[in-house]
Amino acid sequence: MASSPVGPVPPGAGPAELDRMRRRILWRMPSGLYLLGSAAGGRRNLMTHTWAMQVSQEPKLLAVSIRHDALTCELVRQGGAFSLCFLKREDRAIVRAFTKPAEEGPGPAMLGGVAVRTGSTGTPIFSGAASWLECEVRQELELGDHALFVGEVVDCGAPDEDAPLLRTEDTRLNYGG
Ligand SMILES: Cc1cc2nc3c(=O)[nH]c(=O)nc-3n(C[C@H](O)[C@H](O)[C@H](O)COP(=O)(O)O)c2cc1C
Repeated sequence: MASSPVGPVPPGAGPAELDRMRRRILWRMPSGLYLLGSAAGGRRNLMTHTWAMQVSQEPKLLAVSIRHDALTCELVRQGGAFSLCFLKREDRAIVRAFTKPAEEGPGPAMLGGVAVRTGSTGTPIFSGAASWLECEVRQELELGDHALFVGEVVDCGAPDEDAPLLRTEDTRLNYGG
């Protein structure tokens, strides 16, 4: 994450400098950090994810933006569902393992080196999650280099509801910009 202060715009700043500033501002947008689960055709994945938000109260709709070249994009599109796992702050180290497709095993209860269970939508759920939501996809929008999937919440769980939740700013990672 960029540690230098944002702005003020130096007089006479050129396009390259403004571009760098715009990226720093975007990187510092407060955001959560999740594991997004997907599954289709016998494949499944967990992906480190930050671009998620609730977009309707009734029905309960959640939007997640997923890059087109990610395995997750293919699996969410084919499987028509996703899970969003809310992580405990103490689990910040595990998100580094899920920035590429997760390896299976050993056994169906493990994915990418962590314990998982299968949710009612068929998507994997990190067993150590403080809580999670499962969604069925209702709409997909193509937005530049990402696809925005809007899902209706159809199931959820909260084994550790009061745990402080992980945010991107708790790590040295960032995304986008
Ligand atoms: C902090 C962080 C946040 C991320 N957030 C997103 C995100 O919101 N959407 C996305 O498509 N990829 C995001 N990524 C990238 C994915 O984790 C991953 O690298 C890439 O999409 C490939 O995923 P795959 O395993 O589905 O192929 C993020 C990566 C990091 C390090």
